[in-house]
Amino acid sequence: MCGIVCYIGSRPCVDIILQGLTRLEYRGYDSAGIAVHDGEMLKVVRAQGKLVNLGTALEKTPLAGKLGMGHTRWATHGRPSENNAHPHMVNGVAVVHNGILENHLELRREIEQTGATFSSETDTEIFAHLISAALEKNPDLVAAVRQVLSRVTGSYAIAVIAKSDPGRVVVAKNSSPLVIGVGDGETFAASDIPAILKHTNRMVFMEDRELAVLTAEGFSIHEIDGPEITREPKTIEWSATQAEKGGYRHFMLKEIHEQPRVMEDTMRGRVSIEGSGVATELMGLDDLSARRVRRIVLLACGTSYHASLVGKYWLENLAKVPTEVELASEYRARNPLVDPNDLVIPVSQSGETIDTLEAVKVAKEGGASILAIANVLDSAIPRASDGSLYTHAGPEIGVASTKCFTAQLTALFMLAVHLGRRRGVLEKPRARELLEGLLKIPALMREILNDSEHIEELARELASYSNCLYLGRRLLFPIALEGALKLKEIAYIHAEGYAAGEMKHGPIALIDENMPVVVVMPTDSSFNRISGNVQEVLARGGRVIAVGTRGEKTLDALDVKRIEIPACLQELYPILAVIPLQLLAYYVADFKGTDVDQPRNLAKTVTVE
Ligand code: G6P
Repeated sequence: MCGIVCYIGSRPCVDIILQGLTRLEYRGYDSAGIAVHDGEMLKVVRAQGKLVNLGTALEKTPLAGKLGMGHTRWATHGRPSENNAHPHMVNGVAVVHNGILENHLELRREIEQTGATFSSETDTEIFAHLISAALEKNPDLVAAVRQVLSRVTGSYAIAVIAKSDPGRVVVAKNSSPLVIGVGDGETFAASDIPAILKHTNRMVFMEDRELAVLTAEGFSIHEIDGPEITREPKTIEWSATQAEKGGYRHFMLKEIHEQPRVMEDTMRGRVSIEGSGVATELMGLDDLSARRVRRIVLLACGTSYHASLVGKYWLENLAKVPTEVELASEYRARNPLVDPNDLVIPVSQSGETIDTLEAVKVAKEGGASILAIANVLDSAIPRASDGSLYTHAGPEIGVASTKCFTAQLTALFMLAVHLGRRRGVLEKPRARELLEGLLKIPALMREILNDSEHIEELARELASYSNCLYLGRRLLFPIALEGALKLKEIAYIHAEGYAAGEMKHGPIALIDENMPVVVVMPTDSSFNRISGNVQEVLARGGRVIAVGTRGEKTLDALDVKRIEIPACLQELYPILAVIPLQLLAYYVADFKGTDVDQPRNLAKTVTVE
């Protein structure tokens, strides 16, 4: 989820690019770098860490020129370091990249066989090697970029400049965003509008598998392997702050809407339908020998704990490994029994939560193998683990976690299928069916997100209550917990998640017309039972909001308000059903006027005990 800014025109470009990168720092801040063509030479300055470090490096090594590009990095392949910072330069070709290449290992091997050496661990450096090799045969930069793009698979937004071509920037995109800004005698490109909005509001949005050539006078867009395309610039009326949030009112709403794309990124290059398996970069897991694992222990806090509860269901049902889920703070405090055949999986967005980190240390001392599921590359928890499975969700700014929750679910599901196959307990056709189902989820998420006005109306009503109960069964019980947590966190309404079967053992005493009950009840094998629970609530005057499968007839007969989600494989309903609950909490909070992105008393990363 890195940020890119390019400039070509008549003004000195360094400050323009640096300012642009500042507006993109929300996309990542592991390292930053800039490449500038001064008419003769192509020079690169890079620094690890936030942009201020790049500023300091530029004071020591000033750059000058009117053509350049910059990058702020969110690490995916290769830890945060200066060597892994973009731009990557090989023989006078500099490249910046946002995205994930799927066939990078194969291409890297091929390049190394020619005798070339890599100076970074990134997938991006492949572009620089291949483009410089292509230029040796044909000096046309556009032809070289085209040729290389025909060889890579995966997601990318790239910008390329070459020493031999002082008048052009070549950019291209597939899956990752890229917008061109049209100025007067100057042209820009960036990952996102705010980076260049100060200079121009005339923007051209690039589509997938398109390449553009930028010059000071303008731009031309082409299909990567086809003809030129005509596209007129659009005028953007957003303010700078609006633009940063992608036009959404809050980062949280933006992140909720990012979920289909994030899920695709988490699966990218990992799900293989042909092989009916998950080709993971589960570093270290192979060595742990999946077959030997006798028990899995998931350790987490907050929203990550709820994802782990769903993970337990998948790991037990698909991989047939007995699985426990522990609140990290409790686990570390109670002298747990740890077995060397345990696979302990800390699940953490930040990778820095102190309780989870300390719990990992306890498990490690007991001799368990540790596989981290984390979002932030090379953070403390992955560093303390034997292997890591990263979620690739990009930085999450809203304190209440949304896109990282569905990314964690995606990672846990892939892991369960992977282990099931490796342990020989999941048949190939079933694995294939499950993975095909998983690949369909982003499109179904988009359906929910594109039709959310009804949820906004329900939220308006819910905002007047001071309590709310959430019910679910089996793998949707953790989704009830997560829905309740979201409402507490951002709307400050007391909410409890309960296993629907437990309702009659206590919470039913609370039911009256002042207690709204949100029931997560898609059409699955628990549907009849949970419909019975709904009847019990209605009989006591309770008000029900049912999250159910679109077209479910049984719900027509019940006096409930409905939120519909599309049908999917039963096992995958948690990933879909949480989305309306995130939106419901968001809209309630927005009506109440709370500080949605930074709710009172909460922190994004809890590094104190
Ligand atoms: C805090 C955040 C939550 C998060 C939890 C665990 O409470 O506000 O959104 O779920 O920490 O954080 P982690 O980074 O370990 O997933």
